[in-house]
Amino acid sequence: MKIVVLCGGTSTERDVSLVTGREVCKALRSKGHQAVLIDVFVGHEGLDINNAFDRDFVVENELEYIKETAKDLEGLKKSRKEFFGPNVLDLCKDADCVFMGLHGACGEDGKVQATFDLLGIKYTGADYLESAMAMDKAVSRKIFHSDNVPMAKGYRINKKDETIYPADMELKYPVVVKPNCGGSSIGVYFANNDAEYKDALEKAFEYEDTLIVEERIIGREFSVGVIGYKPYPVIEIITGEGEAYDYANKYNGTTLEVCPANVEESISKKMQEAAVKAARALGLNTYCRVDVLLDKEGNCYCLEANTLPGMTPTSLLPQEAKAMGIDYPELCELLIDVSIK
Ligand SMILES: Nc1ncnc2c1ncn2[C@@H]1O[C@H](COP(=O)(O)OP(=O)(O)O)[C@@H](O)[C@H]1O
Ligand SMILES: [Mg+2]
Repeated sequence: MKIVVLCGGTSTERDVSLVTGREVCKALRSKGHQAVLIDVFVGHEGLDINNAFDRDFVVENELEYIKETAKDLEGLKKSRKEFFGPNVLDLCKDADCVFMGLHGACGEDGKVQATFDLLGIKYTGADYLESAMAMDKAVSRKIFHSDNVPMAKGYRINKKDETIYPADMELKYPVVVKPNCGGSSIGVYFANNDAEYKDALEKAFEYEDTLIVEERIIGREFSVGVIGYKPYPVIEIITGEGEAYDYANKYNGTTLEVCPANVEESISKKMQEAAVKAARALGLNTYCRVDVLLDKEGNCYCLEANTLPGMTPTSLLPQEAKAMGIDYPELCELLIDVSIK
């Protein structure tokens, strides 16, 4: 197949996306596909569209080009009105499928997907509406609530609203304050009392005008991949004592990830059922990865469904697939299959 692997973009998760893109592209090429990599925002000036898939494409060279061109990303953003970089859409129109290696805003939120729908471009993962709903934690919470997906008690708060305190909404401390559309744990703060809560709001509002406040679930953290509504083995994420699963711990390699998770069969089944329920509630019939917390009493809580979860070979979903005997290049192909069928 002629495949464009889209990476980069302008979100806070741009750097992770470059790694995802590089590895997915290499894996698909190892399977004999004519896969090429391009940064959705940086694009590629002067690209010969007619030979785009036939050329001797070298993934590392494209990454060099991306890094060089995006050296002054802020300057580039200011100089451009359009999100799509040069030749990106023309290249995608020529592909049999676009592999979405993007994460975060403008990529995971449905805007690119909506554009692709209008242009007749096929792509991996959730469509524009499903993506947008899953990205917006307040919307997801409403849908989870009506479909009885287990989740922590919580509410949304906007910068323009007068300050609501957890007690006003019948929530108990400790609470978590997080951006409504964030990702990678960026802008997530914990609070144990009103003073810390006010401080947390102030800090989190620097990232977004809408925030989610939730009761903090004390317990263990897991994630469950769901591909075609089929749950994958549960993976446990173990951070150091008292440490949060924050941005640093997500990507510095010190977090212990155990798959299949060391929990009773009945508990892992319960989490898998909750994850499939969450995926079904949002209509995520291609693939996603649902973050789940487990408290000491064995209750589980869905935090969110990630529609474009990390896809480096050591990311959570590839580890779950590996536990099922599906290697990384096979998984990349599987995600294309479930998406275009
Ligand atoms: N209600 C909660 N209780 C305990 N920890 C939470 C809660 N909500 C979020 N967290 C912590 O913050 C991290 C990020 O939250 P999440 O809702 O998954 O947002 P994102 O991954 O999009 O940044 C989680 O992985 C978890 O460690
Ligand atoms: Mg998460």
